[in-house]
Amino acid sequence: MPVFITYFLDSKLRRWLQSPGKIVSRSGIINGMEIMKLGCGSGSCTLEFARAVGEQGVLYAVDIQPIMINKLIKKLEKDENKDISNIETNVATAYALPFPESSFDVVCLGWMCSRKYRMLLVLYKK
Ligand SMILES: C[S@@+](CC[C@H](N)C(=O)[O-])C[C@H]1O[C@@H](n2cnc3c(N)ncnc32)[C@H](O)[C@@H]1O
Repeated sequence: MPVFITYFLDSKLRRWLQSPGKIVSRSGIINGMEIMKLGCGSGSCTLEFARAVGEQGVLYAVDIQPIMINKLIKKLEKDENKDISNIETNVATAYALPFPESSFDVVCLGWMCSRKYRMLLVLYKK
């Protein structure tokens, strides 16, 4: 995915169209959960998910592109995000995830144009 798309993904317009707060509140994610954000990109919703699972929980942010994970790490270094310390970043493909079976309470993904059925088959076990 071309990196320039992150300018839209992180924009105020996108946050207005797809409010991360609403996505989190409708997702059923609660404090203490271990969740994976697959295809996290630059982390448009990832920070909200991390805050929702809190210090007792863990958010595993996974993306196939190292540049996206680096953008997320840069975001986490900002003062306004210093409250977040529960994100583990991973560069990996959705088809060969480096986690054992039954690792997650919830797997979140969105705006990924990959082969959906193959991916769902892998995710079902995670
Ligand atoms: C359009 S971006 C969306 C990012 C984020 N989900 C969002 O909604 O802002 C799609 C992301 O999925 C990642 N991606 C695509 N195929 C992938 C795969 N097979 N495994 C892991 N990540 C993948 C891309 O690298 C990209 O960062």
